[in-house]
Order: sequence, then C-alpha cells, then structure tokens
Amino acid sequence: MYVGKARAYTNIALIKYWGKKDEHLIIPMNSSLSLTLDAFYTETSVYFDETLTEDIFFLDGKKQDPKQTAKISNFLDLVRQQQNLSLFAKVDSRNFVPTAAGLASSASGLAALASACSTALDLQLTETELSRLARRGSGSACRSIFGGFAEWQKGDSDQNSFAQPIPSDKWEEELAMLFVLVDDGVKDISSRDGMKRTVETSSFYSGWLENVEPDLVTAKQAIKEKDFNKLGQVTEANGLRMHGTTLAAVPPFTYWSPESLKVMQLVRAVRKQGLPCYFTMDAGPNVKILVEKKNLAALKNFLADHFSEQQLISAFAGPGIERIPVERSEEL
Ligand code: ADP
Ligand code: DP6
Repeated sequence: MYVGKARAYTNIALIKYWGKKDEHLIIPMNSSLSLTLDAFYTETSVYFDETLTEDIFFLDGKKQDPKQTAKISNFLDLVRQQQNLSLFAKVDSRNFVPTAAGLASSASGLAALASACSTALDLQLTETELSRLARRGSGSACRSIFGGFAEWQKGDSDQNSFAQPIPSDKWEEELAMLFVLVDDGVKDISSRDGMKRTVETSSFYSGWLENVEPDLVTAKQAIKEKDFNKLGQVTEANGLRMHGTTLAAVPPFTYWSPESLKVMQLVRAVRKQGLPCYFTMDAGPNVKILVEKKNLAALKNFLADHFSEQQLISAFAGPGIERIPVERSEEL
C-alpha cells in the first residue's frame, strides 16, 4: 500500500482565472493572481492498495456518488499513467470549507489531492511540478501550492502553465480578507461550467480578455509598492468585469444574489466614510472583502448591524501546501 496525506489552503483570486484555452490540459485564457488564506482548507489522504477493485472517494465521511468519484478517478489516472501504476485508490478528504459554494473548495481540494498522491508515490516533485499537477485537477488549485500571493502564468502548454509565489516582502501579513457568507449551499452552475459557457457564448468575453493582463500588471505593481488602494481598486474592478461576462452568456446567468448586492453596497458606503476596503466574488453569491488588518475590526463592526457573527469570517494570509504524517489508526 502507498499512503500520503496533505493539507492545502484555499486561495481567492484578486485577478481572476476565467476561461480555458485547453479544457483537457486546463490551460487558461489568462494569467491570474491570488492570495492563499488561512481560514479555509482541505485535508486529504490517499491510499493506493492492491485489495481495492475500484477507486473510492469519501468527502467529509460520506461516500461520493459515481459522478464525483469519476472526477477523482480522472485525476488519479493521470498520476497512474505517469507512474505506470495500476492500483486503485481510496481518497478520504475533509473540507474545512463549504463545498462548491464559491469559497474555492476545488482549489484546496485538488491541491491537497495532488500533494497526497505525490507523497504516497514518492514522486519527489518540485513545487513547480506539483503546481502543474494540481492544475490538471482544477485550475485554481495550482495557486494553492504556495502561501501568500501567487501568480498563475497562463503559459501555452502543460510544461509552462503553473503558479509561482510573488515576492511581497511579507506585505500580505498586513492584510485580511473578510468573508461575508450569504449562502453556503451548493451553487447551480459550477465554475467549470460557468466559464465554459461564457467563453463559448458571451459577447462580453473579448472585453474581459482585453483588460485582464493590464489588471495583472497593476496588481503586481501595487504589491511591489505596498499600495493597498491600488490593489483594492484593481481587485474590485477585475471581479466586476468577470461577473459582467456572465450576463451576456447564452443563456445568461449570474452568481449574484440580492444579498451579494447588499454587501457590495455596504462596502461602498463604508469606503465613503473613509475606511478603505474592496470586494471580490467568485463563482457563488458570497462576498470577500479585502481590508488592511488594522481596519478589520472597524469593518466587522460596521457589518455587524446587517449580518450575524457566523456570517462574518476573518481570514489572513495562509501557508502553502503541508504534508501530514498518516497515523497508523487512519490506515485503510
Ligand atoms: P468552489 O467554489 O467550492 O471551488 P467549484 O464548483 O469550483 O466550487 O468546485 C467544486 C467541486 O470541487 C466539487 O464539486 C468537487 O468536484 C471538487 N472538490 C471540492 N472539494 C474537494 C475535495 N476535498 N477533494 C476533491 N475534490 C473536491
Ligand atoms: C471564479 O479552478 O474551480 O474562482 O479549472 O474548471 O476546476 P476549473 O475551475 P476553478 O475556477 C475558479 C474560478 C474562479 C476564479 C479564480 O479562482 O481565479
């Protein structure tokens, strides 16, 4: 039996990945930039074992249906092919993040799976190679290999499409992200389906592509200059443009709910009062607010009139991938 276990933290994109050039290899249409966070993460164990007659996938203690298991098997096939291995595996994963709610469970989930496989089979991968492997499971997962700020350079082949850390002089330690959970249920349209429909049908998609690379340059400049307002402004603008593309898709759709709009309006209102903070959203109705640590308490205070304590979750910059020893009692 070959066993490996890993923990990966979610990352939230400040400059979004939205659209694939190659769906099989997961090569994106544009580069993206993210912040890995400490509040949400996944722990995954993988056991390749000769007694198994099929792959089995447990998520949060529940055996997953054939459709979810097939996604995992596809990823395992990739590793098995590379290693010339024919063993089936049991994957046992725990999400310390709501699943498929726009809170990046696919990023932490697939990064943890990639790392657990790499440990189990002693693949001895560099971080770049691990990022490339995680990318094949879910694009955003390639950024969760790294802590702090990471940039996924789109590349144009399997070899040169991977994430790497952005030098930041530890500026991220001065930042926070406040999650406003308006709905932690499973969304109707996954990121994968949403971006595919947008690339194929949205007349606004070309506008997205025109702006995203300049946005990335601005964001990197802001990190270099430690300019919070510059980073916040480009984060908010980029997120809005991504969500704009979905409105012109056929059929059109949106990840926003009335509650999401309420949060966006509140962010603008508190900013007018002199508290700098900026929102972003992913493929789901929950809103994330980028704020300096020193202003987090004031922001929470302001939002406390509108949302419960359980709805407001503070996150700070988190670490990269972590290998975890497997306890004997946990073994298959
Ligand atoms: P999210 O916003 O949570 O990332 P997505 O729709 O992008 O939502 O991705 C959700 C999908 O990611 C799930 O349906 C599942 O296929 C996969 N996923 C989530 N958590 C895990 C996990 N711990 N291990 C493996 N796959 C996972
Ligand atoms: C809106 O990485 O979940 O969160 O590559 O198809 O698995 P797949 O998609 P995924 O998409 C993330 C989209 C996003 C933006 C981002 O994280 O950059």
